[in-house]
Amino acid sequence: MNPIEEKLERCYADVKRSIDFTPRVAIVLGSGLGDYAETATVEAALPYSEIDGFPVSTVPGHKGRFLFGYVAGTPVVMMQGRVHYYEGYPMSDVVLPIRLMRRMGAEIVLLTNASGGVNAAFHAGDLMLITDQISSFVPSPLIGPNLEALGSRFPDMSHIYDPELCGLIREAAERLSIPLQEGVYLQLTGPAFETPAEIRMCRGLGADAVGMSTACEAVAANHMGMRVCGISCISNMASGMTETPLSHEEVQETADRVAPLFRKLVTETVRQLGACAGKRGEN
Ligand code: HPA
Repeated sequence: MNPIEEKLERCYADVKRSIDFTPRVAIVLGSGLGDYAETATVEAALPYSEIDGFPVSTVPGHKGRFLFGYVAGTPVVMMQGRVHYYEGYPMSDVVLPIRLMRRMGAEIVLLTNASGGVNAAFHAGDLMLITDQISSFVPSPLIGPNLEALGSRFPDMSHIYDPELCGLIREAAERLSIPLQEGVYLQLTGPAFETPAEIRMCRGLGADAVGMSTACEAVAANHMGMRVCGISCISNMASGMTETPLSHEEVQETADRVAPLFRKLVTETVRQLGACAGKRGEN
């Protein structure tokens, strides 16, 4: 067996030893959503450190554990804290949690993050439905021998963010009267914030928001046939768009300020996603 697949199976065996729970929806809680657990009915928590060989986040404000429970009656697994490529982990480790949540049974993944607004019409504190992405600046998690048990060598990425799920998120936002921007998320490696010239480049390439996570996770999830959707919290306007220097503290402060709305939108979204899980391939 390929070493990446072997590691996945070892981690899965560790999870199974600790908890017997089959999630339908996986949720990655990004900056500001870390305390989302308070909104969910949590049945069990599993610290990443208890899974042998599992990557553990070094970023302040990112806890590191899986939470198992229910959101609006749907069985979910939530990642409270993710690892980033800039922390030095190989890409196969960065997406290992996503692959593991698929292995646990999740069919849908909702990715959330904080990002810098590149679209001049955005404001710090906006929420953005991710409709597409640019991952070309970070290595693909699919490089290396193809993991045939997970997916095909050349997966189609033309609808990486599932159009039906995007529609559900739009409807959820409308129902809650939460204004929702839409756009393309571009992932850079970080960890430095971008220069104004880099942000102009991102805008020229068609990006609306820029961040240091998520796109690689969406590629790995899509490769495995998971249905992917995502919401980004525009925590700051990107470099060069305002006079203020960027800081992790600002990112966190804005994300925390928007968190109540973000939580509502996630709950309403998962209510809809729960009804959708298991539908792919059915007529
Ligand atoms: N750039 C990159 N990543 C980010 C930003 C940003 O401005 N804000 C939050 N994550």
